[in-house]
Amino acid sequence: MHLPDLKEARKRTKEKVIEKKVEYTFPNVFVGKKYFLRTYGCQMNMHDSEEIRNYLELLGFTETLVLEESDLVVLNTCAIRENAHDKVFGYLGRCKHLKREKPDLLIAVGGCMSQEESVILEIKEKHPYVDIVFGTHNISDLPRLILENKKKQEIEVYSIEGDVYEGIEYSRDSKITAWVNIMYGCDKFCTYCIVPYTRGKQRSRKLEAIVSEVEELKQKGYKEVTLLGQNVNAYGKDLTFVYDFKDLLECVAKTGMERIRFVTSHPWDFTEEMIDTIATYENIMPYIHLPLQSGSDKVLKQMGRRYTKREYLTLFQKIKERIPNVSITTDIIVGFPNETESDFLDTLDVVNTCQFDSAFTFIYSPREGTPASLIEDTIPMEEKEERLQRLNQLVNQYSLENNKRLEGKVVPVLVLGENSKDKNKIYGYTDTMKLININGSKDLIGKIVNVEITDAKSFSLDGVVAKESVGN
Ligand code: SAH
Ligand code: SF4
Ligand code: F3S
Repeated sequence: MHLPDLKEARKRTKEKVIEKKVEYTFPNVFVGKKYFLRTYGCQMNMHDSEEIRNYLELLGFTETLVLEESDLVVLNTCAIRENAHDKVFGYLGRCKHLKREKPDLLIAVGGCMSQEESVILEIKEKHPYVDIVFGTHNISDLPRLILENKKKQEIEVYSIEGDVYEGIEYSRDSKITAWVNIMYGCDKFCTYCIVPYTRGKQRSRKLEAIVSEVEELKQKGYKEVTLLGQNVNAYGKDLTFVYDFKDLLECVAKTGMERIRFVTSHPWDFTEEMIDTIATYENIMPYIHLPLQSGSDKVLKQMGRRYTKREYLTLFQKIKERIPNVSITTDIIVGFPNETESDFLDTLDVVNTCQFDSAFTFIYSPREGTPASLIEDTIPMEEKEERLQRLNQLVNQYSLENNKRLEGKVVPVLVLGENSKDKNKIYGYTDTMKLININGSKDLIGKIVNVEITDAKSFSLDGVVAKESVGN
């Protein structure tokens, strides 16, 4: 197993996608045994955990949330930044301890870190107590690896991305909202990012397969789907068929699913037709996560993002103008190698212009194997931390201001559950993807209700159910 080099990986993006069916014929020989599953990454990683959970439950395992009670530990890892990596190795230390007391404990490591050669070497050399390592392209091998485990370390990771699997079954976290993969991998190769290496080339699922999954979810009573891809706007570009993300959105909207969301949008492939489609259908939610990464043209170019500050702002304005009430959030990286104060001020300038509803902000973390990691960097960490603080202050100020503007307004909310801290409250998300805690009855869980916003904070809202508001 090795990380493909950039040229090789790019060449492979031209290859044809092959569809495969997952087989479900496992003996449930682990009845009475418990598994502990920990997920570190993005929504895609969380959705993979729903696939893993289904396999484990078919094998007879039941879930425990207490590590010490488990007979099997599965860590579904993330490689996006160094701290994700450190967290996993820290946790493995705890598992090692537990295995001393419980020698039969099985430990499995999957997810994006498993796709990194250096991680595999580290596990081989320093963590012999890890029993199974599986990758992002062969999650469906996990049941076999568990069944066949001979108490010696087994590493089964494919360096070439897998095919597109159809018929995957999930043990989903929610009965109200569901994730639906529309594509796997990423072809963008932003210079700082490990994802194209850990998840492989872009492979879109066929439109019919996605639509029929959404229809099935609707029949089961789901109220919301989130279409998942690293770059949803590039959906279909790898297929020889003639449809794109706008067509997919349209077909999914026509299923009548009550709420449709999608992440993540890349400004590069975002067309005007896509904006119009989002604006046309009421069941496509007015919420767009539109990562900026940087406001400096120089840094954007070095990042390989393929848009300029001006192009980003133009797209942003078009979205704001055409989609009524839209909320837009973003991702920003500070401290890209040799980012100057003036580059950083360009980023702040975009934040001041766009006044994002919220933003995820990160300090650049060099990832082995990516082109940016080879750039010699002269900016000290203290300066990057200081920039992050300045950025966060501004971002939070706009989050609060945007939320404050909602006070007194009535907005539709899909209620997802009971508030974990206050049992008299329920929580849900507005159409614009804002978390809201509501004084209301548990009977409303799973329903879309109109809520009057009584108070607004930077990261959440408070509200009360508006009169005569209960839909279905
Ligand atoms: N596909 C999505 C993002 C996936 S990763 C997109 O292109 O927008 C989520 C976020 O992590 C990215 O948007 C980026 O802001 C951040 N990120 C990715 N690689 C990083 C790195 N090496 N260091 C710091 N942040 C990173
Ligand atoms: Fe990474 Fe860029 Fe692909 Fe997003 S678009 S996953 S940041 S390479
Ligand atoms: Fe992390 Fe992999 Fe997602 S690196 S962010 S889990 S695609």
